[in-house]
This record gives sequence, C-alpha cells and structure tokens, in this order.
Amino acid sequence: MEETVIVQSQELQQLIQKKLAAAGLSEAHAAIVAEHLVFADASGIHSHGAVRVDYYAERIAKGGMNRTPQITFEETGPSSGIVHGQNGAGQVVVLEATKHAIEMAKRSGIAAVGVRKTSHSGALSYYVKKAAEADLIALSMCQSDSMVVPFGGKENYFGTNPIAFAAPRKQGAPVVFDMATTVQAWGKILDARSKNKEIPATWAVDAHGKPTTNPHHVHGLLPISGPKGFGLMMMVDILSGMLLGLPFGKHVSSMYNDLTKGRDLGQFILLIDPQRFTDLDTFKESVETMVAELHDIPAAEQFQQVYYPGEINQLTYEKYMAEGIPIEKNIYRYLISDTVHFDQYSGSDAFAQTGTGE
Ligand code: NAI
Repeated sequence: MEETVIVQSQELQQLIQKKLAAAGLSEAHAAIVAEHLVFADASGIHSHGAVRVDYYAERIAKGGMNRTPQITFEETGPSSGIVHGQNGAGQVVVLEATKHAIEMAKRSGIAAVGVRKTSHSGALSYYVKKAAEADLIALSMCQSDSMVVPFGGKENYFGTNPIAFAAPRKQGAPVVFDMATTVQAWGKILDARSKNKEIPATWAVDAHGKPTTNPHHVHGLLPISGPKGFGLMMMVDILSGMLLGLPFGKHVSSMYNDLTKGRDLGQFILLIDPQRFTDLDTFKESVETMVAELHDIPAAEQFQQVYYPGEINQLTYEKYMAEGIPIEKNIYRYLISDTVHFDQYSGSDAFAQTGTGE
C-alpha cells in the first residue's frame, strides 16, 4: 500500500456513510454499506473497502443503483427461496438475503437462497461470517463481469467469481475462507501498471492468450490452478447466475460500462445447520481442534507459522479494529472532501485504468 493514514473504524464508518448519502443513498442503506466496507478494510481486504466509495457514489448518483429497492423474499420451498433485490446496494440486498437464509436454516436445517438482481456485493466473507456467528455452516458465491480467459482460450468469458465459506468454532471467531477464483485480483495488475513493475507470468495473459509479465499487456486474468479454477468459475456462474435466470459468463453486465442501469447480478447462499447432522458442541469442538492441530504443524522454511485458511484476515481485523485502519492517503483525502465522486468510471470497460475490478 502507498502512503496511508490510520483511521479509527468509527470515523471511517461516518465518512463513508456521509459520502454515500451525499450521492443519494438513504441514511439507512448508506450505514449498511459503510459497515461492510469498514469490515473489508479492517480485515485487510483493501480491494473491497473504502477504495470502492468513489465508484459506488458515481453509480448511485447516476441512477445505476436503486436507492429505494423494495427487497422481497419469495419462499419457493421449505428450504429454498429467492431474494429479489431490485438492484439495490449489494451490501444491503445480500445482507437481507443472509438474514432470511439464517432464519430458514434454523427452521428447516438447510437454506438455499438465491439473490436475484443486486449490485456489487463486496467481500463475501462478511455474509458467511454473520451466518457462522449464528452457529451455521455457510457457503456463498457470486458471479462478476467477464475478465478471465477460460483454460486454453484467449478471449475472456467468466468473471473473478468468488467463493466464501465459514464454520463456527468453540472459542475463537468462526473460520472464514474467502477468495476470488482468479490467481490475482485485477487491482494487483493496476498496482503493477502504476509502478511499471513486472508481474509473475502466472497471473494473466496478453491478447494472444500468452502468459505475460508486462502488466500493460494484460488482456485477461488466469483462473487459479488452470482447469480446476476454471471449473469452479463455471460452478459459481451456474449457481449464482443461470439458476436465477440471470445473464451468465460474458453476458454479465460490465461494472463500469453504463452507470445509469442496474447490474442485475446474482448471488447464491447455502446455509447448513450442523445440528441436523451431529451434535453442535462436538462439531464446534472439532473445528477448534483442527485449528489447534494446524497451528501445531511446524512451519516450512521461509514461513513463520501455519495459519488456518482465513486466519490472517481475522488477525488483521482484530488489530485494526483496536488500533485503527490504514487507509490510502488519496482515499482519505477524498472521503473528507466535499467531492461526491470524480466522474471517472462511467463508460470504461472492465480493464479501465481507474477500475479495481470486482
Ligand atoms: P486473497 O487472495 O487475499 O485471500 C484468499 C484467502 O486465502 C483468504 O481467505 C485469506 O485469508 C487466505 N489466505 C491468504 N494467505 C494465507 C496464508 N498464508 N495462510 C492461510 N490462509 C491464507 O483474496 P482474493 O482472492 O484477492 O479476494 C479478495 C476479496 O475479493 C474477497 O473478499 C472476495 O469475496 C472479493 N471478491 C468479490 C467479488 C464480488 O463481485 N463481490 C469478486 C471477486 C472477489
């Protein structure tokens, strides 16, 4: 990260909330989005924190995010349902869907809830963590716009389609794992571009589908582990796009192309009540034991210790919530300024210099 300023979480929450409200979002929705973005920055997921405020503010101001969505929950069975988000702020719509799913999973053991028509929902760990804090196992995934080459191809098809998973444990915070299905986020390519720094050949390809180390030649990102990540991306799009009758693959709306229209994105949430399979305490104790056993494994050369998947984000969250969150100076300057947005995103494509990618 470039030069940063340390901001306490309450101040960051207020600044983001004020900016989104100035763009036209209701105070209630602005507060929910702000809380989510603070969570992301506090967890060290800076690609999905305050850096997004300018883009969200522009989309809200231009009408591409519904300021007054009537979010409804349609139960389609005892364990299934669809949340109709009307392209409201993604953090508001998906949080609402998570709450419905939690209530349903407590009632019937399983909840498979699809979110139909939402805006960008941010860092998925936020939602699965909420469900795990309610003693449920949670899986969530969402589609995003096309910026990844299929394995063996040279034109982009799927998005960075992330997957997040969480499970409750006996003592500590839930274990939460959350990742895009690309080797690296688009934001990391932009960072390398701005510094004119080479990137590893495993991250992205050029216009001929060849791995490139030149960040300026990047045409598409690469899936994690070749065909395996490619397969996961397909799964994410089938569950969070097609299943809900939404556009999929290269048809998913662009993040930046037209900021006057809703994005019509989909998300999928699957919650499982462990008590329907085993004793809850035994389950949570097992997760605790797993964590302890992972910690006991000696570190390999060049590593300090084994962290359980997602642990680094949790440790970062605890530290930053207590001590303050490092925010890039230019982002902080924007947050404390009177500028609502810089009018820089509309009409760009997924690989715009200004964009940070989904
Ligand atoms: P990442 O690569 O930073 O981390 C992936 C996972 O690996 C995390 O759970 C992290 O805690 C874990 N991890 C990293 N290093 C570790 C280590 N040494 N030991 C153990 N575990 C370790 O995450 P990525 O792929 O850059 O994703 C960032 C965020 O972007 C996520 O929150 C994701 O949900 C979000 N995203 C959202 C999209 C959307 O459309 N809403 C699209 C794409 C990504």
